[in-house]
Amino acid sequence: MIRINENYLKLKASYLFADIAKRVNDFAAANPDKSVIRLGIGDVTEPLPEVCVQALHEGADELAQRETFKGYGPEQGYAFLREAIAEGDYADTSISADEIFVSDGAKCDSANIQEIFAEDGLKLAIPDPVYPVYIDTNVMAGRTGANVNDRYEGVTYLECTPENGYIPAIPDHPTDLIYLCFPNNPTGAMATREQLAAWVDYAKANQAIILYDVAYVAFIRDDSLPKSIYEISGADEVAIEMRSFSKTAGFTGTRCAYTVVPKKLQAYDAAGNAHSVHGLWNRRQATKFNGVSYPVQKAAAAIYTAEGQAQVKAKTDFYLENAAIVREAMTKLGYDCVGGENAPYIWIKTGQPSWDFFDLLLDKAGVVCTPGAGFGTCGEGHVRISAFNSRENIENAMERIAAALA
Ligand code: MLT
Repeated sequence: MIRINENYLKLKASYLFADIAKRVNDFAAANPDKSVIRLGIGDVTEPLPEVCVQALHEGADELAQRETFKGYGPEQGYAFLREAIAEGDYADTSISADEIFVSDGAKCDSANIQEIFAEDGLKLAIPDPVYPVYIDTNVMAGRTGANVNDRYEGVTYLECTPENGYIPAIPDHPTDLIYLCFPNNPTGAMATREQLAAWVDYAKANQAIILYDVAYVAFIRDDSLPKSIYEISGADEVAIEMRSFSKTAGFTGTRCAYTVVPKKLQAYDAAGNAHSVHGLWNRRQATKFNGVSYPVQKAAAAIYTAEGQAQVKAKTDFYLENAAIVREAMTKLGYDCVGGENAPYIWIKTGQPSWDFFDLLLDKAGVVCTPGAGFGTCGEGHVRISAFNSRENIENAMERIAAALA
């Protein structure tokens, strides 16, 4: 008899964004005359930067000729892209091109990376609220107990609350695998260099590894804030960093991202012998992944030209202007908000259950947000509004919300 992985039975019935999509589709079907503005899932709306479009065309043309045709590429990514990333994003750090693994998404990387670590006895530290992929993939792998009152047993939850400015405190006990995300999804909060340095010290003291998700790095405008964890001395001994071109350059549909696994990084077997994490991840990728398509990697590399950088800045500036409009409108309506300054998300304290507020905005304003409770128990009483949309839709949405809440 074929049996299932029973860890899946511990999960909530559906993935947060699938759940929201279903509710919104039901609402749209029941109200065909109402227009719906989607500020829920953080999906880009602006077209790809021109440099990327041009590179995609060139890549396709190369594939059309026998002389320049390409079959399988290196599983780790083409050298031209890995080198562009090392030079463009890590010039001031110890990170080199061969420590960069190109992939088809930070969602997949943040979901897959856990499988190179122990299944039994690994102590997880996961923020609350959090991007649901971090916790769900560990549940699937059997690293947690049952879900009791919306929390999985055996996990150290790093609480992000109004009281701590949505920056979690370091646990008072050892943990092994620590997930951090800054600029944060969902709160938009950003850790300072000192706060990040304290996490690096903690990881070192506990022979732990930090999984640092910087998918929203392109939105950091405050130069005093760290863009990479490797700006912190010694982080290359304790941290894996994940970045994505999805939000940076509108690649949510195009698919390209990368994960940095430094060669210095070590993890241990049951006997206490050290092993190269870079070697394990390389082995995993070589077995399970066949690389990102050549034209897409060419498009990603184009972002690192001077023209590409200017175009990316213009796109992210546009979304940040949207974020400022949302934050100002919600603040004017009397709601406390964070985020939106170095992140495309605005995290709003609703003063009522977050699913109720979600329903209110959908029913009365036809605007979709993401209920904070979907990101964890500390997200209750909050909603997230995404700044990824056209200016017209953002302005309309804010007018409709103001009318609905008046
Ligand atoms: C989000 O809305 O949190 C993100 O778009 C989800 C993702 O990047 O997978």
